[in-house]
Amino acid sequence: MARLLNTSHLALHSGIRLFTDRTTKIRIKEMDKTLLQHGFDMNLVEQTATPFYYYDMGILSETLQEIRRQTQGYPYTVHYALKANGNPHILKVIANHGLGADLVSGGEVKAAIEAGFDPKEMTFSGVGKTDWEIKLGLENNMGCFNVESIPELEIINQLAAEMGMKANIAFRVNPDIDAHTHKYITTGTADNKFGIGIEVLEQTVMHALALPNIHLRGLHFHIGSQITMMQPYAMLCDTINDLLDFYDERGIHFEMINVGGGLGIDYTEPDQHPIPDFDQYFGTFKRQLRLRPGQRLHFELGRAIVGGCGSLISRITFVKESRNKRFIILDAGMTDLIRPALYQAHHEVQNLTAEPGSPTKTYDVVGPVCESSDVFAQDRALPVSHRGDIVAIRSAGAYGESMASQYNMRQLPSCVFANDKYYKKSRI
Ligand code: LLP
Repeated sequence: MARLLNTSHLALHSGIRLFTDRTTKIRIKEMDKTLLQHGFDMNLVEQTATPFYYYDMGILSETLQEIRRQTQGYPYTVHYALKANGNPHILKVIANHGLGADLVSGGEVKAAIEAGFDPKEMTFSGVGKTDWEIKLGLENNMGCFNVESIPELEIINQLAAEMGMKANIAFRVNPDIDAHTHKYITTGTADNKFGIGIEVLEQTVMHALALPNIHLRGLHFHIGSQITMMQPYAMLCDTINDLLDFYDERGIHFEMINVGGGLGIDYTEPDQHPIPDFDQYFGTFKRQLRLRPGQRLHFELGRAIVGGCGSLISRITFVKESRNKRFIILDAGMTDLIRPALYQAHHEVQNLTAEPGSPTKTYDVVGPVCESSDVFAQDRALPVSHRGDIVAIRSAGAYGESMASQYNMRQLPSCVFANDKYYKKSRI
C-alpha cells in the first residue's frame, strides 16, 4: 500500500520559544539526547514540515569558541561574511560573540545593524556599491569600505564631502593568485572582475592620499572561496610582505591588512570534521605574515563559520526507477540549496529514517523543480529508501538559506534551531 505522508507534525509544542523572521517560525529547543540519529534530534525533525533548515547551534558556538581560542592574544579581528547566511537568529548569535561583519549590500548593512554588530567593525565590499548603499555606510560610520576601483573611490570621496565627513577605506587588491577552487568562486586572479591590479596600486594609493574626504586605512585581499589548501594563503602572505616592504620604503604605513575569507569546510566528512582546521589557517598567517607594529589583521570568514552547523532536511516524495537509473525524489529542491546545481558541489546525503543495517542501493537524489540540474547527488550509495523517509543534506549552513529562491513559486523552507549540542565529533 502506498505510504501517505504524515503532516500532523505541524502542531507547535508548548514550551518551545518561537521567533519570527522573514520566512518562518523558528523553534529553539533543547535536544532530546535519547532521540538522536546521526546527531539530529528526531523529535524536532519529525515534528516539522519539510523541507526545512536544521541548525545545530552547538556546532556554531563551538566554531566561534575555536576562532576565539585561535585568535586571542593576536592583533586579529574576524568579521563574519553575512552573505553565507543572513538568518537573523544566526546573526544575533555571531554578533553577541563579538565578531565584526563583512557586508556586500545595503540589505546586509541593515541586517547587521539590526543584529547588533558594531558599525566600527563592519567592512563593506562589492564591485558595484550604489550611491544609497555608500550613503548608508557613511551614515553609520562604517569601519571600512573595501574599494574596488578609482571611479568608486571618487564617488565615495564626493558623497563623504557632501555629508561633511571622511570615509574610511581600504583598497581591494587583486593579487593574481589562483586559489585552486571552482571557477565561479575564484576571485583573486587577473581575469576576475574584483579588485585593483597590483600594477596600478601605487598610483591609486597616491591618488587616495590626496583626496580630502578619504582616510586610507589599509589593503584588502580576497582570493576565493572553499579553499582547502594553505598554499594559496601562504602565497598571499608573501605578496603582502612584499607590498608592505615597498610602501615602508616610501614612508606609507597602513593601519590594517584584510586577507578576506575563503577557508573551506569538509563536505565529504561532516561528522568527522564539523569545525574547520582554524589552527592551520590562522597558523599560516601567524607564521608567514610580517605585520608591522600597531597593524591589525582582519579576516572575513563566511562558510567556515556557519557551513558545518546547517543541514537541509527533506522528505522523500517518491522513489522512482527508470530504465537506467533509480531516483529518490525529495520535497527539497535546488531552490533550497543551489550549490550542487550551480557548482557541482558535493554534499553528503543521509537517510535518517532508514532501517538500521539495511542494504544499500545506488540512487540519484533529485528535487521536484522543473530543471534537469535539480540534482543533489548522482550515483550515491544509500540505504534502501522509501517514500516518507527523512533525508538530511549536510553542510548546508553556508550559501543554502542565503541563496534560496522561490522559483516555481515554491515556498521558502522554515528553520529549526537545536540549541544543545551533540558533540561526540572530533576536530581535525
Ligand atoms: N570576503 C569577500 C570579499 C567575499 O567575496 C567572500 C565570498 C567572503 C569574504 C566570504 O567567503 P567565504 O569565507 O564564505 O568563503 N556561493 C558560493 C560562495 C561564494 C563566495 C563569494 N564571496 C558557494 O556556495 O560556494
